[in-house]
Order: sequence, then structure tokens, then C-alpha cells
Amino acid sequence: MATKGGRRERVSTWTPGEREAKAPHPDEAQRPWWTSAVFYQIYPRSFLDTDGDGVGDLAGVRQRLPYLARLGVDALWLSPFYPSPMHDFGYDVADYCDVDPLFGSLEDARRLIIEAHEHGLRVIVDFVPNHTSSEHPWFVDARSSRTAAHRDWYVWRDPAPVAGGTLPGPPPNGWAATFTPDEPAWTWDAETEQWYLHVFLPEQPDLDWTNPAVVDAMHGVLRFWLDLGVDGFRIDVVHYIGKDVPLGADVPPPEATELTHELLRGLRELLDAYPRQPMMVGEVFIFSTRQVATFYGRGDELHLSFNFPPLYAPWEAPAWRKRIDRVIEELDPVGAWPTWVLSNHDNPRHRTRYGTPAGARAAVLLLLGTRGTPFLYAGEELGLSDAVIPPDRVVDPGGRDGCRAPIPWEGGAAHGWQTADPWLPWPPEAAAGGDAAAQEPDPGSSLHLYRAALAARHRHPALGRGSFRWLESPPDVLAWEREADGDRVAVVVNFADAPADGVLPDGWKLEVSSTAGAPGQAWTGQLPGSASAWLVPESL
Ligand code: GLC
Repeated sequence: MATKGGRRERVSTWTPGEREAKAPHPDEAQRPWWTSAVFYQIYPRSFLDTDGDGVGDLAGVRQRLPYLARLGVDALWLSPFYPSPMHDFGYDVADYCDVDPLFGSLEDARRLIIEAHEHGLRVIVDFVPNHTSSEHPWFVDARSSRTAAHRDWYVWRDPAPVAGGTLPGPPPNGWAATFTPDEPAWTWDAETEQWYLHVFLPEQPDLDWTNPAVVDAMHGVLRFWLDLGVDGFRIDVVHYIGKDVPLGADVPPPEATELTHELLRGLRELLDAYPRQPMMVGEVFIFSTRQVATFYGRGDELHLSFNFPPLYAPWEAPAWRKRIDRVIEELDPVGAWPTWVLSNHDNPRHRTRYGTPAGARAAVLLLLGTRGTPFLYAGEELGLSDAVIPPDRVVDPGGRDGCRAPIPWEGGAAHGWQTADPWLPWPPEAAAGGDAAAQEPDPGSSLHLYRAALAARHRHPALGRGSFRWLESPPDVLAWEREADGDRVAVVVNFADAPADGVLPDGWKLEVSSTAGAPGQAWTGQLPGSASAWLVPESL
């Protein structure tokens, strides 16, 4: 890949129009691309099926690249598509360097990366370092005998001495498995008479990162994908690698240690050796923003970390003010660039969480208006809600099927898929004419709101990288200003159902609104209930 002064050059296959639309603001030349990018998460199983098996595939993603480029996102995060027995729908990886036939082939992945780049979209893939599938050849070997070559790639512990000597006795410590809190995070292997650790399902044994051979092998995985052209990684439950495994019934839950940070520095060094600025964003599932900040190290660990407290915040002005303040207090002093995410394949969609289409529309201008890198989950742009899953269709052990419903691209029974009956039921909007094709001609649709917001974000350096300052606002409203080199945008969000008056009454005009109103329209200071808007100075 051609580079210039250490910065990755945009691929030459862009059309001039695209290049102009996407070219970074000149002042951004020195900033890494991922600070002003908007990421779009694709859960491949649910995106688009092209071969009729009811499960989405990589060819389906390729097919929608023009749509994604037009939407205006900058980078794609692909959830796992690796060979997997699918006990955790791909987060149980049986081979880190291949593609499950369900999704296509390695060649499909390679072509997807190339074609995404041609559309001006960067690609990051999911890296699942804490555990493999129990069907990964490393674990198959590890459990074959206590002296197997890969035995110490996993976390094995002897049974505690038991009165009477009947094995296995109690598990080595009191940790519970994540999706089944009544079950231990340990499974007894009767053949070799030891327990193995699995923070998640028994089919997801934890790797032992204290073993340098594991570190080497996982570095090899990262190199494999970087050499194939990816622009980085989303790292699954990254706070769990390097954990101590204390023995005893009453031990604290798994905690990150200095080893975790050392391992992250190793990953960072590997990525930084590549000239095109590959990045990693970690899933740090810890509800303290102060602790999340430590995973950025001194600019030598994660490039970005998810920060989940805002995702679980109620739709109330004081709650949001607190979450935003916390990010400023904890991340700014250590030079950590924030991320913002309100939905993903593990959590309800905006519309389901906030309860109404208006709330979902208001949320996106909040999400894209904060200071930091936003992550959008595929299908949010259509304003979808979670599917209602009848008991006989439940497939996920973690109860997350609803937000993983297939995306309806078109009308008709199959909604642009190859079958009307995919692996999960459709979201309710599918039957109500809420598919992407139906939204296309409707300027009032959610799709158009997302396009307008993403285009405005590209036009305004203030939104992509600008400073943040609270502005005065009525009680149920939050208002803040973003500014970069004289470019100014105000973000106003009304969390109440009732309309608000006197919201920045002077000196602003409308740029994007979650409800109605054309860009350039004079701003009256009246913000409808459950609504948000971006405003620019009247003089602009
Ligand atoms: C992460 C993933 C989730 C998965 C779990 C175990 O939390 O987002 O989907 O089940 O890790 O890999």
C-alpha cells in the first residue's frame, strides 16, 4: 500500500467525485484517520444472504458496498466470519486465518477488503483473543493429554484435594460462566482429570496469554489479516487477556493486570510497524470510565476503547450530561480519544432502547455530535427495532437474538435476501414497509436523516475533530458546541416528550434536524419533544 510521510494514501481507484467528498480537511492531515471516522458494524450473519441458506455472507456485504459508501460511513467493522461451530455465532473461533464456508471463502474476504477500499471504506475485523472454540485444533490437541504440545496454551487447573478422594470436587474458583451464571466458568475434563477455564461457554476455552507461544501465535493472526489488507481490529473482551486466575471459592471476578497492559503494548507495537496506521479498538467491558482510560496506556496500548456507560444510560438529560462529563474528566487528561456507541450485536437497538422512532432519530444526532469516534450498528440507519423472537426461534445462549435480526433491504417476502425465512425472524419494520428500498424515495425517512447527518459530519471539521463546550440550556435539554478552526456547530437534544422553548434562541440556523426543517432555515429556539438538531452560526 502506498504511503506518504507515514500516512496511508487514499486508494487510486476512487472516482474524483468520491475523492473530493471524502478527502480529509487539510488540517486533518496529521491526525490519524480513526479519530474522525464513523465506523459501521456489520454482523455478517444478518447483513445480506446471497446463496439462499438464510445466513448473510461476505458476498452480501460486497453487494452493499455502494450503499454504504453513499450512506457516508468511513470504516466497516466486520463481526467474526471465521470457521466456527457457532455456539456463540462466530465468537467461538476454530481457525483465525480462514473464512467459514457459511460466509464464503478467504478469497471473498480478500476481495471484500479490496472493493471496500475502492469505495473509500476502511475495514477492521474482529479479533477474539481471550478464547478459542473447543474445536480449534489447539484445544483439540490440548485436551488430548496432559503432555500435549498445546496443553499449556489453555488454563488448566488441578482439582482441589477432596475429602474421600472422589474427583472432581469443586471447581478451582468461584467464577461463573458469563451466559449461564448458575454454571461455573470451569469444565471438568474427565480424560485428563483437570478443569479448564471458560469465562464464556464451555465451548469457548480461555487461552493462557502468560504463555509466550500463545502471544506469538496471536501476533501471527494479526499479521495475517494486516497482510491481507485490513485497517485494524475490534478486539473482543480484551480486558480479560492477561488476567490472574486466583484459586478459591470467594475470589473477585476476573481483573486486568499489568500483564494485560504489557500484552496490549506488544499488540500496539506490531500494528504501529505497519505504515498505513492500522488501529485497534478494544471491547473493554468495564463500567468505570476511569478504568477504561487505562487501556489507552500512554498512547501505547489501545488506539480506542469502547466505553459502555453511555450505552446503558437512561434517556434523560442529567444522566447524559454526567456520562459526557465523565468521559471529558477521565479521558482528556490522558490524551485518550473517546468512542461512542449506542447499540451493537449484544445490545438492543436505539429504537427499542429509547422506545420510539422519534427517540431513535434524536439519538443519532447525539451520537454523531459528541466528541470522539462514533460506532453505528448496521440497520440503525433504517430505524429498525429488535425482532420479537418466539420461544421456539431462540438460538443465542446470551438472549441477544432480537438485535441480530436480518436487515430488510427490499419489500416482498424475502426483503432482498434469497429466502423469506432466514436464520432469525425479521424486525417488525420489515412487514411495515420500513425496508431500505422503501425509504430511498422518502426524504423524511431515517435513511435520509443518517445520510444528511453523515454528510454534514464530513463537511464540518468541528464535528469530526472539534473541541467540546457545554452551552446553557433548559432543564430537559442538553446543548453543546463543537469548534475547529473557526468552524462551529451546536448540538441540541431534547430528552423530554414536551417541546422546549428558548434553546439557543439567537444567532443560529438549522443544519440537520431529527424532525423537520431544511438546512439554512432560521432557528427559532423551539425544539420539539424527543428531538435533536445541529445548528450552525447564522452568519455562515
Ligand atoms: C463479546 C462479544 C459477544 C461474545 C463475547 C464472547 O462480548 O461482543 O458477542 O459473545 O464477547 O466472545
